[in-house]
Amino acid sequence: MEVNCETTLTANMSCKYAIVTGANKGIGFEVVRQLASKGVTVILTARNEMRGIAAVSSLFESGLTNVVFHQLDVCDPASVECLVKFVKTQFGTLDILVNNAGVSGVVVNEEGLRALNIDPVSWLSGEATNIVQGVIQQTYRNAEVCLDTNYYGVKRVTEALLPFLRLSPSGARIVNVSSLRSELKRIPNEETRKELGRIESLTEAKIDGIVEWFLRDLKQGKLEANGWSIMLPAYSISKASLNAYTRVLAKTYPKMYINCVHPGYVNTDINWHTGTMLVKEGARGPVMLAFLPDGGPSGSYFDQTNLAEF
Ligand SMILES: NC(=O)c1ccc[n+]([C@@H]2O[C@H](COP(=O)([O-])OP(=O)(O)OC[C@H]3O[C@@H](n4cnc5c(N)ncnc54)[C@H](OP(=O)(O)O)[C@@H]3O)[C@@H](O)[C@H]2O)c1
Repeated sequence: MEVNCETTLTANMSCKYAIVTGANKGIGFEVVRQLASKGVTVILTARNEMRGIAAVSSLFESGLTNVVFHQLDVCDPASVECLVKFVKTQFGTLDILVNNAGVSGVVVNEEGLRALNIDPVSWLSGEATNIVQGVIQQTYRNAEVCLDTNYYGVKRVTEALLPFLRLSPSGARIVNVSSLRSELKRIPNEETRKELGRIESLTEAKIDGIVEWFLRDLKQGKLEANGWSIMLPAYSISKASLNAYTRVLAKTYPKMYINCVHPGYVNTDINWHTGTMLVKEGARGPVMLAFLPDGGPSGSYFDQTNLAEF
Protein backbone atom coordinates (compact mmCIF):
# COMPACT_ATOMS: atom_id res chain seq x y z
CA MET A 1 0.00 0.00 0.00
CA GLU A 2 1.43 3.36 -0.98
CA VAL A 3 2.08 5.99 1.65
CA ASN A 4 0.85 9.45 0.85
CA CYS A 5 1.61 11.64 3.78
CA GLU A 6 0.32 14.82 2.17
CA THR A 7 -3.23 13.61 1.73
CA THR A 8 -3.59 12.04 5.15
CA LEU A 9 -2.67 14.96 7.36
CA THR A 10 -5.17 16.45 9.71
CA ALA A 11 -5.23 20.24 9.68
CA ASN A 12 -2.97 20.82 12.70
CA MET A 13 -0.66 17.81 12.53
CA SER A 14 2.69 18.02 10.78
CA CYS A 15 3.71 14.90 8.87
CA LYS A 16 4.97 12.38 11.41
CA TYR A 17 6.19 8.83 10.99
CA ALA A 18 5.66 6.10 13.56
CA ILE A 19 6.48 2.43 14.02
CA VAL A 20 4.50 0.13 16.30
CA THR A 21 5.81 -3.36 17.05
CA GLY A 22 3.58 -6.41 17.56
CA ALA A 23 0.69 -4.52 16.03
CA ASN A 24 -1.34 -7.19 14.24
CA LYS A 25 -3.70 -7.47 17.21
CA GLY A 26 -4.42 -6.36 20.76
CA ILE A 27 -3.16 -3.06 22.17
CA GLY A 28 -0.59 -2.55 19.37
CA PHE A 29 -3.24 -2.72 16.66
CA GLU A 30 -5.37 -0.17 18.51
CA VAL A 31 -2.37 2.13 19.03
CA VAL A 32 -1.79 2.08 15.26
CA ARG A 33 -5.47 2.87 14.66
CA GLN A 34 -5.41 5.83 17.06
CA LEU A 35 -2.10 7.24 15.74
CA ALA A 36 -3.23 6.90 12.14
CA SER A 37 -6.59 8.52 12.96
CA LYS A 38 -4.63 11.59 14.09
CA GLY A 39 -2.81 11.84 10.75
CA VAL A 40 0.44 10.03 11.61
CA THR A 41 1.86 7.77 8.89
CA VAL A 42 2.28 4.46 10.67
CA ILE A 43 4.33 1.39 9.85
CA LEU A 44 2.33 -1.45 11.39
CA THR A 45 4.76 -4.26 12.08
CA ALA A 46 4.10 -7.90 12.89
CA ARG A 47 6.26 -11.01 12.92
CA ASN A 48 3.75 -12.92 10.83
CA GLU A 49 3.30 -11.41 7.38
CA MET A 50 -0.23 -12.70 6.77
CA ARG A 51 -1.52 -11.48 10.13
CA GLY A 52 0.16 -8.09 9.60
CA ILE A 53 -1.25 -7.59 6.10
CA ALA A 54 -4.72 -8.60 7.30
CA ALA A 55 -4.47 -5.97 10.06
CA VAL A 56 -3.42 -3.23 7.62
CA SER A 57 -6.20 -4.23 5.23
CA SER A 58 -8.84 -3.94 7.92
CA LEU A 59 -7.60 -0.43 8.78
CA PHE A 60 -7.55 0.46 5.09
CA GLU A 61 -11.16 -0.69 4.74
CA SER A 62 -12.13 1.55 7.65
CA GLY A 63 -10.69 4.53 5.74
CA LEU A 64 -7.17 4.68 7.21
CA THR A 65 -4.95 4.80 4.15
CA ASN A 66 -1.88 6.09 6.01
CA VAL A 67 -0.81 2.72 7.44
CA VAL A 68 1.77 0.47 5.77
CA PHE A 69 2.91 -2.99 6.73
CA HIS A 70 6.44 -4.19 7.32
CA GLN A 71 7.42 -7.54 8.77
CA LEU A 72 9.29 -7.38 12.09
CA ASP A 73 10.23 -10.16 14.44
CA VAL A 74 11.89 -8.33 17.32
CA CYS A 75 13.88 -11.48 18.17
CA ASP A 76 15.41 -11.74 14.71
CA PRO A 77 18.31 -9.34 13.93
CA ALA A 78 17.94 -9.94 10.16
CA SER A 79 14.29 -8.91 10.33
CA VAL A 80 15.23 -5.76 12.28
CA GLU A 81 17.88 -4.96 9.66
CA CYS A 82 15.31 -5.31 6.90
CA LEU A 83 13.00 -2.83 8.64
CA VAL A 84 15.89 -0.40 9.04
CA LYS A 85 16.52 -0.53 5.27
CA PHE A 86 12.83 0.13 4.64
CA VAL A 87 12.78 3.18 6.94
CA LYS A 88 15.97 4.48 5.36
CA THR A 89 14.70 4.25 1.79
CA GLN A 90 11.04 5.19 2.35
CA PHE A 91 11.11 7.85 5.09
CA GLY A 92 14.68 8.66 6.17
CA THR A 93 13.40 9.76 9.59
CA LEU A 94 11.21 8.50 12.44
CA ASP A 95 9.24 10.48 15.03
CA ILE A 96 7.49 7.84 17.15
CA LEU A 97 8.48 4.32 18.16
CA VAL A 98 6.05 2.25 20.21
CA ASN A 99 7.77 -0.88 21.50
CA ASN A 100 4.64 -2.92 22.15
CA ALA A 101 5.44 -6.53 21.13
CA GLY A 102 5.39 -8.84 24.12
CA VAL A 103 4.88 -12.37 25.35
CA SER A 104 3.90 -13.76 28.76
CA GLY A 105 6.74 -16.28 28.86
CA VAL A 106 4.76 -19.02 30.59
CA VAL A 107 2.91 -22.20 29.67
CA VAL A 108 -0.69 -22.02 30.80
CA ASN A 109 -3.45 -24.53 31.28
CA GLU A 110 -6.12 -22.10 30.10
CA GLU A 111 -9.06 -24.27 31.07
CA GLY A 112 -7.57 -24.74 34.53
CA LEU A 113 -7.00 -21.00 34.86
CA ARG A 114 -10.59 -20.21 33.87
CA ALA A 115 -11.89 -22.80 36.34
CA LEU A 116 -10.08 -21.00 39.17
CA ASN A 117 -12.25 -17.96 38.41
CA ILE A 118 -9.76 -15.52 39.93
CA ASP A 119 -11.14 -12.06 40.54
CA PRO A 120 -9.21 -9.18 38.94
CA VAL A 121 -8.25 -7.61 42.29
CA SER A 122 -6.47 -10.77 43.52
CA TRP A 123 -4.89 -11.24 40.09
CA LEU A 124 -3.45 -7.73 39.99
CA SER A 125 -2.43 -7.46 43.64
CA GLY A 126 -0.46 -10.69 43.52
CA GLU A 127 -2.73 -12.40 46.08
CA ALA A 128 -3.44 -15.07 43.47
CA THR A 129 0.25 -15.99 43.12
CA ASN A 130 0.04 -19.26 45.04
CA ILE A 131 -3.33 -20.26 43.58
CA VAL A 132 -2.09 -20.06 39.97
CA GLN A 133 1.07 -22.11 40.45
CA GLY A 134 -0.79 -25.30 39.46
CA VAL A 135 -1.92 -23.89 36.11
CA ILE A 136 0.92 -21.55 35.12
CA GLN A 137 4.33 -23.06 34.47
CA GLN A 138 7.58 -21.14 34.03
CA THR A 139 9.87 -23.17 31.78
CA TYR A 140 13.45 -22.12 31.13
CA ARG A 141 12.94 -22.00 27.36
CA ASN A 142 9.89 -19.76 27.69
CA ALA A 143 11.78 -17.48 30.05
CA GLU A 144 14.56 -17.07 27.47
CA VAL A 145 12.03 -16.21 24.74
CA CYS A 146 10.24 -13.81 27.07
CA LEU A 147 13.43 -11.91 27.92
CA ASP A 148 14.56 -11.94 24.32
CA THR A 149 11.23 -10.41 23.24
CA ASN A 150 10.23 -8.03 26.04
CA TYR A 151 13.68 -6.75 27.01
CA TYR A 152 16.41 -7.56 24.46
CA GLY A 153 13.88 -7.20 21.61
CA VAL A 154 13.12 -3.61 22.63
CA LYS A 155 16.83 -2.84 22.86
CA ARG A 156 17.53 -4.45 19.48
CA VAL A 157 14.79 -2.50 17.68
CA THR A 158 15.41 0.82 19.44
CA GLU A 159 19.17 0.79 18.87
CA ALA A 160 18.71 -0.02 15.19
CA LEU A 161 16.22 2.83 14.74
CA LEU A 162 18.03 5.45 16.82
CA PRO A 163 19.79 7.02 13.81
CA PHE A 164 16.35 7.87 12.35
CA LEU A 165 14.78 8.85 15.68
CA ARG A 166 17.62 11.31 16.24
CA LEU A 167 16.56 13.14 13.06
CA SER A 168 13.06 13.89 14.35
CA PRO A 169 12.94 17.71 14.46
CA SER A 170 11.29 18.23 17.85
CA GLY A 171 12.61 15.16 19.67
CA ALA A 172 11.40 11.65 18.99
CA ARG A 173 8.88 9.97 21.29
CA ILE A 174 9.74 6.42 22.34
CA VAL A 175 7.05 4.51 24.21
CA ASN A 176 7.94 1.23 25.88
CA VAL A 177 4.86 -0.79 26.73
CA SER A 178 5.58 -2.20 30.17
CA SER A 179 3.37 -3.74 32.84
CA LEU A 180 2.48 -3.26 36.47
CA ARG A 181 4.41 -6.52 37.01
CA SER A 182 7.51 -4.36 36.46
CA GLU A 183 6.97 -2.31 39.60
CA LEU A 184 9.94 -2.50 41.95
CA LYS A 185 7.79 -3.03 45.05
CA ARG A 186 6.79 -6.41 43.60
CA ILE A 187 10.40 -7.71 43.62
CA PRO A 188 11.05 -9.42 46.97
CA ASN A 189 14.88 -9.25 46.69
CA GLU A 190 16.00 -5.94 48.16
CA GLU A 191 19.34 -5.87 46.35
CA THR A 192 17.71 -6.31 42.92
CA ARG A 193 15.06 -3.76 43.79
CA LYS A 194 17.70 -1.21 44.75
CA GLU A 195 19.98 -1.92 41.77
CA LEU A 196 17.13 -1.50 39.28
CA GLY A 197 15.85 1.61 41.01
CA ARG A 198 19.14 3.50 41.42
CA ILE A 199 19.11 5.65 38.31
CA GLU A 200 22.41 7.42 39.14
CA SER A 201 24.39 4.19 38.77
CA LEU A 202 22.18 2.20 36.36
CA THR A 203 23.85 1.03 33.16
CA GLU A 204 22.76 -1.33 30.41
CA ALA A 205 25.50 -3.73 31.48
CA LYS A 206 24.10 -3.80 35.03
CA ILE A 207 20.59 -4.49 33.78
CA ASP A 208 21.85 -7.28 31.49
CA GLY A 209 23.71 -8.72 34.47
CA ILE A 210 20.49 -8.88 36.51
CA VAL A 211 18.70 -10.63 33.64
CA GLU A 212 21.52 -13.19 33.38
CA TRP A 213 21.47 -13.72 37.15
CA PHE A 214 17.70 -14.36 36.97
CA LEU A 215 18.16 -16.99 34.25
CA ARG A 216 20.91 -18.73 36.25
CA ASP A 217 18.67 -18.84 39.33
CA LEU A 218 15.76 -20.17 37.27
CA LYS A 219 17.96 -22.94 35.87
CA GLN A 220 19.11 -23.87 39.36
CA GLY A 221 15.60 -23.75 40.89
CA LYS A 222 16.52 -20.81 43.14
CA LEU A 223 13.86 -18.25 42.19
CA GLU A 224 12.00 -18.23 45.45
CA ALA A 225 15.12 -18.60 47.60
CA ASN A 226 16.78 -15.62 45.90
CA GLY A 227 13.75 -13.35 46.06
CA TRP A 228 12.53 -13.17 42.47
CA SER A 229 8.86 -12.52 41.80
CA ILE A 230 7.02 -15.85 41.61
CA MET A 231 4.02 -14.41 39.75
CA LEU A 232 5.01 -14.63 36.03
CA PRO A 233 8.72 -14.64 36.97
CA ALA A 234 10.36 -14.03 33.57
CA TYR A 235 7.67 -11.58 32.46
CA SER A 236 8.06 -9.56 35.67
CA ILE A 237 11.83 -9.23 35.40
CA SER A 238 11.64 -8.57 31.64
CA LYS A 239 9.40 -5.55 32.28
CA ALA A 240 11.37 -4.32 35.31
CA SER A 241 14.50 -4.45 33.13
CA LEU A 242 12.65 -2.68 30.32
CA ASN A 243 11.74 0.17 32.69
CA ALA A 244 15.36 0.44 33.85
CA TYR A 245 16.53 0.50 30.22
CA THR A 246 13.97 3.24 29.49
CA ARG A 247 15.53 5.40 32.19
CA VAL A 248 19.10 4.81 30.98
CA LEU A 249 18.09 5.63 27.41
CA ALA A 250 16.27 8.79 28.49
CA LYS A 251 19.43 9.96 30.27
CA THR A 252 21.54 9.24 27.20
CA TYR A 253 19.20 11.08 24.79
CA PRO A 254 17.95 14.17 26.63
CA LYS A 255 16.42 15.66 23.46
CA MET A 256 13.99 12.74 23.13
CA TYR A 257 10.92 11.84 25.19
CA ILE A 258 11.39 8.23 26.28
CA ASN A 259 8.89 6.70 28.70
CA CYS A 260 7.35 3.41 29.71
CA VAL A 261 3.73 2.66 30.46
CA HIS A 262 1.47 0.03 32.01
CA PRO A 263 -1.50 0.00 29.62
CA GLY A 264 -3.99 -1.35 32.18
CA TYR A 265 -5.49 -4.81 32.61
CA VAL A 266 -6.73 -5.26 29.08
CA ASN A 267 -8.70 -8.12 27.59
CA THR A 268 -6.20 -9.63 25.09
CA ASP A 269 -4.50 -12.92 24.22
CA ILE A 270 -1.47 -12.22 26.43
CA ASN A 271 -3.50 -12.65 29.64
CA TRP A 272 -5.75 -15.39 28.22
CA HIS A 273 -8.58 -12.84 28.11
CA THR A 274 -8.75 -12.41 31.86
CA GLY A 275 -8.27 -8.62 31.45
CA THR A 276 -11.18 -6.30 32.18
CA MET A 277 -10.45 -3.27 29.97
CA LEU A 278 -11.09 -2.74 26.26
CA VAL A 279 -8.08 -2.36 23.91
CA LYS A 280 -9.36 1.14 23.16
CA GLU A 281 -8.81 2.04 26.82
CA GLY A 282 -5.48 0.18 26.96
CA ALA A 283 -4.11 2.21 24.05
CA ARG A 284 -4.77 5.54 25.76
CA GLY A 285 -1.54 5.62 27.81
CA PRO A 286 0.79 4.62 24.95
CA VAL A 287 -0.91 7.07 22.56
CA MET A 288 -0.73 9.90 25.09
CA LEU A 289 3.03 9.30 25.44
CA ALA A 290 3.46 9.13 21.65
CA PHE A 291 1.91 12.61 21.45
CA LEU A 292 3.63 14.15 24.49
CA PRO A 293 3.95 17.91 24.04
CA ASP A 294 7.42 19.47 23.83
CA GLY A 295 8.88 19.89 27.31
CA GLY A 296 6.96 16.86 28.63
CA PRO A 297 8.42 14.17 30.89
CA SER A 298 11.11 11.70 29.88
CA GLY A 299 12.51 8.67 31.72
CA SER A 300 9.19 8.22 33.55
CA TYR A 301 6.79 5.37 34.20
CA PHE A 302 3.05 5.79 33.72
CA ASP A 303 0.18 3.69 34.99
CA GLN A 304 -2.14 4.19 32.02
CA THR A 305 -2.23 8.00 31.67
CA ASN A 306 -0.95 8.80 35.18
CA LEU A 307 2.64 9.36 36.23
CA ALA A 308 3.54 6.56 38.69
CA GLU A 309 6.37 5.21 40.87
CA PHE A 310 8.78 2.72 39.26
N1 LIG B 1 -3.20 -6.95 28.08
C1 LIG B 1 -2.78 -6.52 29.26
O1 LIG B 1 -3.52 -6.54 30.26
C2 LIG B 1 -1.38 -5.99 29.41
C3 LIG B 1 -1.00 -5.56 30.70
C4 LIG B 1 0.29 -5.06 30.87
C5 LIG B 1 1.14 -4.99 29.80
N2 LIG B 1 0.74 -5.42 28.56
C6 LIG B 1 1.70 -5.32 27.46
O2 LIG B 1 1.07 -4.79 26.31
C7 LIG B 1 1.77 -5.23 25.13
C8 LIG B 1 0.76 -5.71 24.11
O3 LIG B 1 0.13 -6.87 24.61
P1 LIG B 1 -1.38 -7.25 24.30
O4 LIG B 1 -2.09 -7.22 25.60
O5 LIG B 1 -1.89 -6.45 23.18
O6 LIG B 1 -1.19 -8.79 23.92
P2 LIG B 1 -1.38 -9.59 22.54
O7 LIG B 1 -2.73 -9.32 21.98
O8 LIG B 1 -0.98 -10.98 22.85
O9 LIG B 1 -0.33 -8.90 21.56
C9 LIG B 1 1.05 -9.16 21.62
C10 LIG B 1 1.66 -8.80 20.28
O10 LIG B 1 3.08 -9.01 20.35
C11 LIG B 1 3.46 -9.74 19.20
N3 LIG B 1 4.74 -10.43 19.35
C12 LIG B 1 5.07 -11.40 20.23
N4 LIG B 1 6.35 -11.80 20.01
C13 LIG B 1 6.82 -11.04 18.97
C14 LIG B 1 8.05 -10.97 18.28
N5 LIG B 1 9.08 -11.79 18.57
N6 LIG B 1 8.19 -10.07 17.29
C15 LIG B 1 7.17 -9.24 16.96
N7 LIG B 1 5.96 -9.28 17.55
C16 LIG B 1 5.79 -10.17 18.55
C17 LIG B 1 2.29 -10.68 18.95
O11 LIG B 1 2.35 -11.24 17.65
P3 LIG B 1 1.67 -12.66 17.27
O12 LIG B 1 0.22 -12.39 16.99
O13 LIG B 1 2.45 -13.10 16.09
O14 LIG B 1 1.85 -13.57 18.47
C18 LIG B 1 1.15 -9.69 19.14
O15 LIG B 1 0.98 -8.92 17.98
C19 LIG B 1 2.77 -6.29 25.60
O16 LIG B 1 4.05 -5.73 25.68
C20 LIG B 1 2.27 -6.65 26.99
O17 LIG B 1 3.29 -7.12 27.83
C21 LIG B 1 -0.49 -5.92 28.35
